[in-house]
Amino acid sequence: MWLYYVAVAELGEEFLVGFSSLGPTHWSIRNEPSRKMGFIPMLAVASAFQGKPRDSGEDRFSHRILKDVMAKARQRGYQELCLLVNDENTPAKRLYTRFGFTAVTKKDRRGNVRMHTALS
Ligand SMILES: CC(C)(COP(=O)(O)OP(=O)(O)OC[C@H]1O[C@@H](n2cnc3c(N)ncnc32)[C@H](O)[C@@H]1OP(=O)(O)O)[C@@H](O)C(=O)NCCC(=O)NCCS
Repeated sequence: MWLYYVAVAELGEEFLVGFSSLGPTHWSIRNEPSRKMGFIPMLAVASAFQGKPRDSGEDRFSHRILKDVMAKARQRGYQELCLLVNDENTPAKRLYTRFGFTAVTKKDRRGNVRMHTALS
């Protein structure tokens, strides 16, 4: 699990922006069980930093965190990455879709869908 901080020079302080996590999973892709699959159990951006930075041309924190955990997955040799997301969690689903994830299951009893992406 990783915590992400941002330093605000004017305040001389660091703030917790969000966190992500990564681990192995027994899930596999049908017909390709040998592909090494990683799982993101949780990823979050603190509410004060959601949707930020806005209009500065810089990457949003959500993008930086997801890019970072995807890079860590590649470094660890994962060829596929998956996660569970609530079907009504539009911000999360939009974020993951933007980074190549697609839903591969229907909603389960808890309202979650499994999303997947291949790592190049
Ligand atoms: C999911 C989460 C990490 C996204 O971070 P964020 O800073 O809100 O992300 P973004 O600002 O990039 O928003 C993602 C997309 O959702 C859209 N969005 C944001 N809030 C929205 C809302 N209420 N309704 C519809 N769309 C919304 C944004 O416009 C953006 O779409 P775009 O990339 O096409 O512009 C953050 O909302 C969060 O931490 N949520 C709580 C924890 C959580 O649900 N984690 C995911 C568990 S799997």
